Amino acid sequence: MSSAQRKDDHVRLAMEQQHAHSGRNQFDEVSFVHHALAGIDRPDVSLRTAFAGLSWQAPLYINAMTGGSVKTGAINRDLAIAARETGVAIASGSMHAYFKDPSCADTFRVLRTENPDGFVMANVNATASADNARRAIDLIRADALQIHLNTAQETPMPEGDRSFASWGPQIARIAAAVDVPVIVKEVGNGLSRQTVLALAGLGAAAADVSGRGGTDFARIENGRRELADYAYLHDWGQSTAACLLDAQDTGLPLLASGGVRSPLDVARALALGAGAVGSSGGFLRTLLDGGVPALVAKISTWLDQLAALQTMLGARTPADLTRCDLLIHGPLRSFCADRGIDTHRLAQRSSPSPSPNSGPGPGLSSGSGDALHQMTGSTR
Ligand code: FNR
Repeated sequence: MSSAQRKDDHVRLAMEQQHAHSGRNQFDEVSFVHHALAGIDRPDVSLRTAFAGLSWQAPLYINAMTGGSVKTGAINRDLAIAARETGVAIASGSMHAYFKDPSCADTFRVLRTENPDGFVMANVNATASADNARRAIDLIRADALQIHLNTAQETPMPEGDRSFASWGPQIARIAAAVDVPVIVKEVGNGLSRQTVLALAGLGAAAADVSGRGGTDFARIENGRRELADYAYLHDWGQSTAACLLDAQDTGLPLLASGGVRSPLDVARALALGAGAVGSSGGFLRTLLDGGVPALVAKISTWLDQLAALQTMLGARTPADLTRCDLLIHGPLRSFCADRGIDTHRLAQRSSPSPSPNSGPGPGLSSGSGDALHQMTGSTR
């Protein structure tokens, strides 16, 4: 099986999955506490986000997907145009195909030629040599390098990798050899707190948790097997919301992707601590159904509605969403209990915890969060 054929299979099977998906995932188990006087004015809201020493004009990106075949080169061109027109960051698909066959270089290079001034990320796997990682960055003049981790994809993949021990040391070698920030990402099965901590020690600048809830590569690869005998791996891993909660105190900047369906999911992920939020399968579906105009319209609407949600929630910046009160429900709440995550703190973080010596009643002492400042009419 050639890399080009595999990339075309991935697009086809990912789109079948998009059409079959129930539409529900664990973002539904995260809700904002509504404060009716917490709003601010729309002109006060900025979408600019900063993480890992980077500054993006919006906290949204088109995450890694394609390149390596004629068909996916055309998809990359269209994704690049959409990124350019909306100003969001974009990642290439795995550039392994280019290392094997440099004649497909243009299917990746188009990400930069169509989007000369945008923020573009190259993507390699954790077995890439440091030289190849540098070649990938050079080919598209990448501003950052993504390294993907995908054990739950490789395992059911007929031609998949079965040796994972070298991945950690290789990430460290790549991170030491390249001169752009390294973002380590999953492909839809999630990063645990332990993994994120390990990545911090290996030199990653950020981690994209890319959790369960959207594109499911164990299912895709199982669909490529003659007997489809790995069906029990479908839905493997932790949801994106669970990963963000799990890794919130690791110190490593986090990005979120995996099952992001709406501007509300973007706001939820930002409120759970992500510096920016990515989508792959959903954006690709819109592109393939309606072309570049449909994807540009979708991204523009998401950015506009994200700003509207921030206004309603009293969050001047995406980072301010991390001071909004969040309720965690259902199985996600049990996950938090088992992993030692304090859901009570999340539900009350816009107000200071009452101290025995504070004068006014709970929530009215000094040092209150943004929402309370809005409610009492004070400004900063
Ligand atoms: C992907 N994804 C992916 N990730 C990666 O790091 N390298 C890659 O080459 C690919 N290829 C790829 C192809 C297609 C068709 C899709 C839909 C996805 C995974 C992607 O970046 C993301 O982590 C997951 O898809 C989860 O996000 P969504 O799709 O649920 O928004």
